[in-house]
Amino acid sequence: ANDVRDDLLHVLMTKEEVQETIESLAARIDEDYKGKDLLIVAVLKGAVMVVADLTRALKSHVELDFMAVSSYGSGTKSSGVVRIVKDLDTDLMGRDVLIVEDIIDSGLTLSWLKTNLESRNPNSVEICTLLRKPDAMKVEIDVKYVGKDIPNEFVVGYGLDYAEKYRNLDFVGTLAPHVYS
Ligand code: PRP
Ligand code: MN
Ligand code: MG
Repeated sequence: ANDVRDDLLHVLMTKEEVQETIESLAARIDEDYKGKDLLIVAVLKGAVMVVADLTRALKSHVELDFMAVSSYGSGTKSSGVVRIVKDLDTDLMGRDVLIVEDIIDSGLTLSWLKTNLESRNPNSVEICTLLRKPDAMKVEIDVKYVGKDIPNEFVVGYGLDYAEKYRNLDFVGTLAPHVYS
């Protein structure tokens, strides 16, 4: 098979930088949720790598649940109109919830999701994302844990896909234009 690295322009976060970033997020989360029963909600599919490494870096015990959402759009990525493809199994009543994401791009998915989860009477809902693109955000969202702010470029790897590929990379890179043009 072809080497996926031929499709990349440059490395945005090395494997080591990803792991260091996740460890420092985990340390903050351990501290902030001391004595609480945290429920971590990962958003499929992109958040799979982040949540797997983040939860293993935590010292506290947590519960883990998954949601799959799909955003209706006309061509472009996110429209803000979101449909639940797979809902949580967990009742959120009184729970402290931390949504885990790989990236916040326009912010539309998370903005909708946070509002949706908040309507289920939890005690708290916060957000943790490995990456955020401040220049691409279309809505204001309060994000408590951000691994790294990145430029508005096409990034793949460590859960992030282009046409369902590149999720399995252990680092984050930018996609070369020849791949998508
Ligand atoms: C990607 C990413 C975030 C969302 C961010 O998911 O994993 O969930 O887009 O975009 P936004 O901030 O503009 O809403 P995608 O919808 O591609 O699904 P996937 O996780 O299955 O790849
Ligand atoms: Mn996603
Ligand atoms: Mg995707």
